[in-house]
Amino acid sequence: MIVANWKANGDIKKNYLWCETFQNLLDKSSFNYVGISPSHIHFHQLNTFFKETNVMIGMQDIYIEGGAITGSISAEMASADGCSFCLVGHSERREIFNEDGNLISKKISSLLKNNIKPILCIGESFEEHKAGNTRDKLKSQIIESIPKSYVLNELIIAYEPIWAIGSGKTPEAEEVNSIHEFIKDVVQSATANNIVPKVLYGGSVNDINASDFFDEDSIDGALVGGASLDANIFANIVNIYKRLKKI
Ligand code: 13P
Repeated sequence: MIVANWKANGDIKKNYLWCETFQNLLDKSSFNYVGISPSHIHFHQLNTFFKETNVMIGMQDIYIEGGAITGSISAEMASADGCSFCLVGHSERREIFNEDGNLISKKISSLLKNNIKPILCIGESFEEHKAGNTRDKLKSQIIESIPKSYVLNELIIAYEPIWAIGSGKTPEAEEVNSIHEFIKDVVQSATANNIVPKVLYGGSVNDINASDFFDEDSIDGALVGGASLDANIFANIVNIYKRLKKI
């Protein structure tokens, strides 16, 4: 799966041009494994545009409940509007909005209750990376985020080293592959029915380095920030994925 995270970007006019360009660059079968998460205010625009296709339109965040929570939306609202997946625990949410494992776990429960696929984002800081603590950090993020009260049937994880986000720096693809194997093992042992998650890589993915990542067996796709804002580059990444994964 290749997922675009538009973060706080986009406007009605630009989005429309993006959608037109993207749609013309890919054949219909490529849409089966594309997800786009625009801002909440543009969700409906994108969902309407791609209504007749298999492109999944998701959200970047929800809150655990609705009602008197100014500025937030609930999973129930997202679901009613046709949301199929949602990012949870992105490092920008953890850093800027102080989100912790307890809240992230509740968000995952709330999404599952409303039939929305969560994409759990995890990743280590540069200091943790340098100190050799990456695996410990990822393991604790996974354990604290998996809801205790739910039996998961599937889970998508996005491994995003914080130091690779928006920096143009990436870990070696083989290193990412070995971390993804580790993540799959941890999730398998931490879930009641031993699910093996799909693991996406995120952090400065573009159409030049994408083939290095997709050549690796345990890299099941990408979560793309900056490069997804350009429809041509994002379509190139989808095409590279399709070619290398032979799907
Ligand atoms: P960049 O692709 O801009 O590094 O962002 C990655 C990201 O944070 C996707 O969620």
